[in-house]
Amino acid sequence: MYSIKNICCIGAGYVGGPTMAVFAKNCPDIKFEVVDINEERIVAWNSKDLSKLPVFEPGLSEIIELVRGRNLIFSTNLKNSIRKADMIFISVNTPIKKTGLGAGETSDLRWVESCARQIGQIAENHTIVVEKSTLPVKTAQTIKDILLSSECGIKNKSFSVLSNPEFLAEGTAISDLEAPDRVLIGGDDNHAMKALNDIYLNWIPQEKLIFTNLWSSELSKLTANAFLAQRISSINSVSAICEATGADINEVANAIGKDLRIGSKFLQSGPGFGGSCFKKDILNLVYLSKYYGLNEVADYWRSVVEINSWQQTRVYEVIVKKLFGNLANKKIAILGFAFKKNTNDTRESPSIEICKNLLNEGAFISIHDVKVTEDIIKKNLFKNPSILNENLKLNKSNWEFQSNLYDAIKNSDAVVLLTEWEVYKDIDWDWVSKNVRKPFWLFDTRSLVKAKNIQNLGLNIWQLGNGSMN
Ligand code: UDX
Ligand code: ADP
Repeated sequence: MYSIKNICCIGAGYVGGPTMAVFAKNCPDIKFEVVDINEERIVAWNSKDLSKLPVFEPGLSEIIELVRGRNLIFSTNLKNSIRKADMIFISVNTPIKKTGLGAGETSDLRWVESCARQIGQIAENHTIVVEKSTLPVKTAQTIKDILLSSECGIKNKSFSVLSNPEFLAEGTAISDLEAPDRVLIGGDDNHAMKALNDIYLNWIPQEKLIFTNLWSSELSKLTANAFLAQRISSINSVSAICEATGADINEVANAIGKDLRIGSKFLQSGPGFGGSCFKKDILNLVYLSKYYGLNEVADYWRSVVEINSWQQTRVYEVIVKKLFGNLANKKIAILGFAFKKNTNDTRESPSIEICKNLLNEGAFISIHDVKVTEDIIKKNLFKNPSILNENLKLNKSNWEFQSNLYDAIKNSDAVVLLTEWEVYKDIDWDWVSKNVRKPFWLFDTRSLVKAKNIQNLGLNIWQLGNGSMN
């Protein structure tokens, strides 16, 4: 039996930070330490001003206020934290590989490997290592191999490796962590699995805990995300059929969602799914399938990602067509840069490609978001400017960030609603009608507004999936 008194989490990102905060809140007798090599991030997690935390998540700052300094600390001292720990969560980034074998499909494991090496060298006595990040199937084997290699000095130390994937969604992370649908623990060491199980029992009923072998656990995480993403690509493909036929995607989604076998969740059509997981996880499934010679399976899952890119392109093309095929000398207000509401995360946000394409057409874009900062938007737009022409790479004067929503909209030719932030539901369209250029278009990709209200003000509206507008 293992007794767990000190827990270390490597990686203070969107997963590590909120997860350890909720753990610390519910397990006051255990000491938690979240460590990261990124000093700036740790400083931000330790900042007195809770609005400066690096991750925005409803309910997070209240928990941080309660547990920080009590039984949760954020630090850059990896060595010290690893040495003390009885259990270590690996919560580092695993982006898709950019070059080399498996580029564009499989995860880049350099950060996971570096963690495993550090743990192997520094840990003392018995340590339970838990994979928290979403990883390609069989990564636990890699971690085990590294931990047990002679380079890590196996004297007086031993390890158990568990897979305990996170199922939290950004924007609802705290409630997902407090009351998850299920918690999955994969492993082959019953004592280690029991130790992790007992930690969860502090706030989660036993019947919600599921035990599997390591590979089932790793694969379940990829598959859960692939199934969710597949629903969005399915409904988005139908949104295009609605526009062509006169059907209304919300009516269709409501009708099919009432079938209990289908269910109503994840049927909201939009500009395409974003976030750090969906695309990456499906691509990992594609790679895994190809690796085992299952090319048809690979093609099947790849098409889910392709529909998603197509949906983003489709939105951009509609905008150009409605604005007479010309965006030069036109101001377009982009409302929402985060990939969904209630997060400051922009990874894989559909807004990125849509904005780049609009810039490329010569538009002036004015961007507003509730939580994403100007600096982050700038990095996203000009980080991989492949689709921007040479001129634009040099000339960054064709966009602006506006912290005031109405300043972004003022004198625009069009507004594009991309993120479903609540404030965008309450826009004063009467004011808008008096302060924009005509003919004006509203492109509503998230079904946020009542089309009739906009049309009554003499404004044009295109609503994704709403075929009754043709
Ligand atoms: C997802 C999974 O939900 C979570 O379980 C996993 O651990 C990590 O990946 P996340 O990416 O944070 O979480 O957000 P999610 O709420 O799943 O949304 C992903 C994307 O799908 C967003 O861009 C969202 O706008 C879009 N979406 C979601 C739709 O377009 N329609 C829907 O009906 C639901
Ligand atoms: P996620 O959404 O999975 O949490 P993030 O990118 O938000 O991903 O967070 C991952 C964090 O892990 C980053 O802050 C990064 O600096 C940190 N990290 C990556 N590799 C290491 C490492 N070897 N040691 C410590 N921290 C690491």
